[in-house]
Amino acid sequence: MKNKIESLKEDIKNFEISDEKELEAFRLEFLSRNGRVQKMFGMMGEVPNNEKAEVGKAMNEAKNLAQKKFDDKKEELNSEAEVSFAATDDISLPVEPSYTGSYHPLTQALNEIKQIFLRLGFNIADGPELEDDFHNFTALNFPPDHPARDMQDTFFVRKSDDPKKEDHVLRTHTSPVQIRLMKEQKPPVRSIMPGRVFRNEAVTAKSYFQFNQVEGLYVNERVTLGELIETLVMFAKLMYGSDVKYRVRPSFFPFTEPSLEMDVWWQSDKGGQWLEILGAGMVDPNVFKAVDIDPEKYTGFAFGMGVDRIAMLRYGIDDIRVLYDNDIRFLEQFNS
Ligand code: DAH
Repeated sequence: MKNKIESLKEDIKNFEISDEKELEAFRLEFLSRNGRVQKMFGMMGEVPNNEKAEVGKAMNEAKNLAQKKFDDKKEELNSEAEVSFAATDDISLPVEPSYTGSYHPLTQALNEIKQIFLRLGFNIADGPELEDDFHNFTALNFPPDHPARDMQDTFFVRKSDDPKKEDHVLRTHTSPVQIRLMKEQKPPVRSIMPGRVFRNEAVTAKSYFQFNQVEGLYVNERVTLGELIETLVMFAKLMYGSDVKYRVRPSFFPFTEPSLEMDVWWQSDKGGQWLEILGAGMVDPNVFKAVDIDPEKYTGFAFGMGVDRIAMLRYGIDDIRVLYDNDIRFLEQFNS
């Protein structure tokens, strides 16, 4: 028995441990529940009583030897790992900047617009991009032969096999959401309606087949043109600063009467110019009739603005196409 213990001690001493794998092999061979040290303790019954004390002491020595070798090697390997980390990676070097992502300039402009109108007491609504002729044109008082219905401006969509039933369109503006809202909700209505719109136009630096609008609508008893203008001026000041130079001029839209447009003065290094930022007007009584609201009882104002134009002015972008290319080199510049 004593010899067995001696040879076990020798094996423990001679076992080579130079990495984690060998450390684990050592543990399995000697220290685990089925390891050689435990097996030896299991043989204690065979030892004559008068030798038990001495053999037990030798066994404990073997066990402690194995445990100490394991602990020491483990610590040694851990500190080596730290040393090799410090040798290859200079942790005092400055970290390479990483791109963390950012909001698209259109999203940033849209968020600003939303914040302003939420402050002015409007809520936010939306509607579908695939519209029918009724919501996109008819209910908005477009006469049947109005040029905006022309194939050149509108993407027509056929939903059934019947070639005569081309009565769906990709919405050409966000104004149809006004119609949906007024059909669902009785006045007072005070909402903005952001969304993507589509026009069948040639793609150039100035025009694209899709862009973004924010529609606005306020319907109540005794809403006036003065309130409309007041709201738009407030918007222009909050968006462009209180010293913004603006003007309001008469215009025409089928769904408003009277109608107007708002321009802001834009100063760049190349000079200054008036830029149209939105169309607006008092809701036409024919629009109220299309949605069963009594035009004798209620009045309202509406407006529609282009988000792309606002983003382009804000960031000095002169080609609308870059807003839709998703080129990461462009987008990275808006990491605010
Ligand atoms: N829908 C018009 C467009 O796409 C913009 C517009 C003008 C919206 C006047 C309105 C409005 O609500 O009152 O050009």
